[in-house]
Amino acid sequence: MAVYDLIVIGGGPGGYVCAIRAGQLGLSVACVESRETLGGTCLNVGCIPSKALLHASHQYHEAIHNFPKVGIVTDSPSIDWDKMLAYKQSTIDANTGGIEFLFKKNKVDWIKGKGQIVEPGKVQVGDQTFETRNIVIATGSEPSSLKGVKVDEKTVVTSTGALELSSIPAELVIIGAGVIGLELGSVYARLGTKVTVLEYLNGITPGMDAEVSKTLQRILKRQGMDFKLGVEVTSVAKKGKANSVEFKIRKTGKVETIKADIILLSTGRRPYTDGLGLEKLGIGLTGQGQIEVDSIFQTNIKGIYAIGDVTPGPMLAHKAEDEGVAVAEEIAGNKGYVNHDVIPSVIYTQPEVATVGKTEEQLKEEGVDYKIGKFPFQGNARAKSIFQASGFVKMLADRETDKILGCHIIGPSASDLIQEVCLGLEFGVSAEDIALTCHGHPTYSEAVKEAALACGDGAIHA
Ligand code: NAI
Repeated sequence: MAVYDLIVIGGGPGGYVCAIRAGQLGLSVACVESRETLGGTCLNVGCIPSKALLHASHQYHEAIHNFPKVGIVTDSPSIDWDKMLAYKQSTIDANTGGIEFLFKKNKVDWIKGKGQIVEPGKVQVGDQTFETRNIVIATGSEPSSLKGVKVDEKTVVTSTGALELSSIPAELVIIGAGVIGLELGSVYARLGTKVTVLEYLNGITPGMDAEVSKTLQRILKRQGMDFKLGVEVTSVAKKGKANSVEFKIRKTGKVETIKADIILLSTGRRPYTDGLGLEKLGIGLTGQGQIEVDSIFQTNIKGIYAIGDVTPGPMLAHKAEDEGVAVAEEIAGNKGYVNHDVIPSVIYTQPEVATVGKTEEQLKEEGVDYKIGKFPFQGNARAKSIFQASGFVKMLADRETDKILGCHIIGPSASDLIQEVCLGLEFGVSAEDIALTCHGHPTYSEAVKEAALACGDGAIHA
């Protein structure tokens, strides 16, 4: 059997992108993936299906709340849940099918099954062993478990089960106010579910700029989501048909319970490395079970690399994708490049939240002398015209040099707006550079320009 230049284990955003790039660079490459379809968690049970349901539920919200305001008269809109799920599935199929097409186009062999590294240069899948000069581990992550909570993916679910509930729940309790809890909570709150979020910390979205986090919580509360902060969930038990969640109020130690027909466990994810044979190979792991890699994503074993969620850093598809490209370049003898200081984070609620660079809290802690340029979407004509004027752009720049240090956006299309700032951070631009760049009118992006102006003499429309 021929020896591959590269075998990638895992066909998610990190792995499939790595395999495609390696194919483009002329390497002989195979990707081992055990799912029926390519695309990993992101395309099958994560980013893509959740965005489909976020879109559908937002449309429903618009039909009820904003159609009448713009003169569209409809009979009372209602939900066909099966059809909504079918739409979600069609979105998944179109995207996973697309990756299969790209594999064929770039001569990437898809080896179906679970891969195990039996020794450097040898990957076993089922009863076949494949030889390769290099191996990239891109096996991603899985939901973390929580003591006292038994997931059945029917009534006690992770994000996977929450994306295919048999009906829209009347009451949903979410454990953990991170990205997954808030995005899926938004979906069901818009569809009429009573949503309660239980969070261990005293604020939502840990690590995010506190002003943005507080604003998001306020807006989500207005949309009907209830938050219980500073509480530790200790167990979930079945009581008749309903589930009952027991939690402790951390400040007082008082124990309370709450009932719900569906419980979503979203308390983080952990690296998925089961069955890879890492221990036998002696591959170095961090205390959290992530695979340790060097600056070119190589593990302590020559020729075995790792990227994405199995390695340290944020568990984000775009981080994994960029690492996939970089490691393919390195294996092909080129230079790979990922700037881990400029990786945006997005929450696809309505409004969206997008952030990049330092938060105000981090700058304070590091003793950096910074200035803030803030602009509310209330002053943005385009946002006002579509009833999405809550939120703001907050630009942080060095007080002396004016160099941009971070940007935090809560508002319409924040996920796209942040890219301008990412580019700025890559090139080390100043707030003035953005302020002097002509932005189209009327666009949401004018709010970014105005926030940059606010870092200097002041915004125009505020
Ligand atoms: P997370 O780490 O974002 O949030 C988990 C939350 O659960 C934390 O706030 C934590 O304090 C809380 N928690 C932990 N134990 C608890 C307990 N016993 N009781 C109450 N609260 C408790 O985790 P999440 O939302 O599950 O997301 C996992 C990963 O997936 C993240 O790394 C995230 O970045 C990624 N992801 C990214 C998305 C995006 O980029 N839009 C979408 C979905 C997931």
